Amino acid sequence: MSNRYAVILAAGQGTRMQSKLYKVLHPVCGKPMVEHVVEQVKKVNMSEVVTVVGHGAELVQAQLGDRSEFVLQAEQLGTAHAVMQAKDRLQDKDGITLVVCGDTPLITAETMSSLIQHHEEQQAKVTILTAHQDNPGGYGRMIRDDRGLVKRIVEHKDANEAELTVQEVNTGTYCFDNRALFEAIEKVNNDNVQGEYYLPDVIEILQSQGETIAAFQTPLASETLGVNDRVALSKAEQLMRTRINEQHMRNGVSLIDPVNTYISSEAVIGRDTVVYPGTVIEGETTIGEDCIIGPNSEIKNSTVADRTVIKQSVVHNSAVGSDVNIGPFAHVRPQSNISDEVKIGNFVEIKKTNFRRGSKASHLSYIGDAEVGTDVNIGCGSITVNYDGKNKYLTTIEDNVFVGCNSNLVAPVTVGKGAYVAAGSTITKDVPGEALSIARARQENKEGYASKIHPKN
Ligand code: UD1
Ligand code: MG
Repeated sequence: MSNRYAVILAAGQGTRMQSKLYKVLHPVCGKPMVEHVVEQVKKVNMSEVVTVVGHGAELVQAQLGDRSEFVLQAEQLGTAHAVMQAKDRLQDKDGITLVVCGDTPLITAETMSSLIQHHEEQQAKVTILTAHQDNPGGYGRMIRDDRGLVKRIVEHKDANEAELTVQEVNTGTYCFDNRALFEAIEKVNNDNVQGEYYLPDVIEILQSQGETIAAFQTPLASETLGVNDRVALSKAEQLMRTRINEQHMRNGVSLIDPVNTYISSEAVIGRDTVVYPGTVIEGETTIGEDCIIGPNSEIKNSTVADRTVIKQSVVHNSAVGSDVNIGPFAHVRPQSNISDEVKIGNFVEIKKTNFRRGSKASHLSYIGDAEVGTDVNIGCGSITVNYDGKNKYLTTIEDNVFVGCNSNLVAPVTVGKGAYVAAGSTITKDVPGEALSIARARQENKEGYASKIHPKN
């Protein structure tokens, strides 16, 4: 096997996106486009991956980290000019060079491998990955001669009427003989409508030198979608979503309505878990087996163990154990740790709290900056008063505590093991274990008082 190099083009601003964010950083199913591309390229066993950066260079580099080498294209003069920036790094090497655009997020390692295989079989100097598009608008068109051999690629903006009818397009992915690429690219000029140095012009140059030019037409045209504007971005999102969701379904996850289920590409979900519509599973989230998630739940950067139910609720940056019941309409905010068999019910908000095994906050509570022991019952409407306007304080509720309804636990405060807090109490001092604490005005009944207010004649 010859050495393999990859050049990923990611320097463009992406004017057509109409965005402050550089094009290749726009996320598709939660992950920047260029990251999808690099991930697939890495699977094809490359000796070196070089990403050409320009607009937003630092951000793109920070995103990719050590998964790629980088070269800077200070001015964006076209795709050939972009590849030229990798010349010093690659020109003296023997092998093949895969060039991929950072704005084709759906391309897979399998398709790239097929392209490389075709290239090697054909012993070509360049093999272009092409696709049939019913609506080829915007893409470069493949121009073939009478015998069907590739002559050149013409950009949409430079094409004449006959050329515009061609439906075989350049996908922007190519496999080159490395040395031939860097020799030919020197000869590319910018004599075209856009005044840019086009990488596809290398094809015509090699062709005129009598070199073997091959094309590999993938049957999976949707993989080659190039994202130049937000309309294409939404198509990419939809295609990627289908791909991710089908993978989960094949792995044994039931998605009741996959079209309305949004799962990030990093998420891991166990078998026999059922995901209901309107659910968004974002970032690095792991969900166990036999869970019921949704409808309409949002889980982000969190872990959820087995047999847990999360309905109409939000869970962010937290860990949730097994056999837990969350929702409907609960909000688990970052840094919360919900142990097994816990219940977080209707309209309950939890923040930065450890909630130990078997404890319950079933209705209308706010529990923030708290340590909640095992088998605690937090009555309806109870809250931890964790903030004095400047600082946050900790509330400790030890094992087996019963907090009556509508209580305020003014932090910092500890309610000792097995203690009871009477309903309606405002607890400002620690409660010893096994005690009953009542902190509310004593009830006074004034018999017959109503007749003083509304005397009966
Ligand atoms: C390009 C191809 C077109 C092909 C299409 C497939 C050229 C001239 N045209 O068109 O034939 O059908 O992709 O999607 O190559 N970039 C740089 N530096 C530059 C210019 C671009 O790094 O100076 C990067 C962009 O960030 C982008 C990629 O190259 O990731 C492609 O550029 P783009 O402007 O999207 O080209 P298309 O018009 O889509
Ligand atoms: Mg493009």
